[in-house]
Amino acid sequence: MIVGICGSPRKKATEHVLKEALTILKKMGFKTAFFTVRGKKIGFCTHCDYCLENKKCIIEDDMNEVYALLKDAEGIILATPVYNGGISAQTKTVMDRCRALVAADKNFFKHKVGMAIAVGGDRIGGQEMAIQQIITFYILNGAIPVSGGFFGANLGATFWSKDTLEGVKGDEEGFRSLRKTVRRFAEFLRRFEA
Ligand SMILES: Cc1cc2nc3c(=O)[nH]c(=O)nc-3n(C[C@H](O)[C@H](O)[C@H](O)COP(=O)(O)O)c2cc1C
Repeated sequence: MIVGICGSPRKKATEHVLKEALTILKKMGFKTAFFTVRGKKIGFCTHCDYCLENKKCIIEDDMNEVYALLKDAEGIILATPVYNGGISAQTKTVMDRCRALVAADKNFFKHKVGMAIAVGGDRIGGQEMAIQQIITFYILNGAIPVSGGFFGANLGATFWSKDTLEGVKGDEEGFRSLRKTVRRFAEFLRRFEA
């Protein structure tokens, strides 16, 4: 199963392109699930260290849904809007709260494959910086990050929304980077299935 996590508080560009990625993967035969932070209650990690002792997070909120989805996931897509040249606070909060998963099982993310999508309002607004943060999260936690590959691709899928849904829909170059990254993501997943 592949879980796509949308770190945008809006039903706009980031959600749209993540759903496009999941649609492509569904057509390839993968099972997919979608989660959005939009309208959800997900509190900050407070570094209370409860999870280190008790192997679960002390906070009871909508992060429980993410924990359950990630448990069943062989593939993860983190999609974020670009806020101030990096990931959104919501995306970062989801990442930080994953500490509880690794506290319970240090191999939790092992052999899971991860890809990243970043959507900025500006053409060069920090999409690659945001993707670097997501890839760093995968590496730190033992997951396998995939990029769009060499020759004209990116670290992942990068979009220029011009701050609108219509803008992102018209970003041909963004969709090219998405298709390329999804292809490599699928290749890695198939390899691990085998
Ligand atoms: C607080 C905030 C900071 C932002 N900072 C950036 C930025 O640094 N670079 C950029 O390209 N776009 C920036 N944007 C624009 C959003 O990335 C852009 O509108 C994107 O499409 C939002 O995703 P959404 O359509 O899924 O909400 C910012 C938006 C907000 C609300």
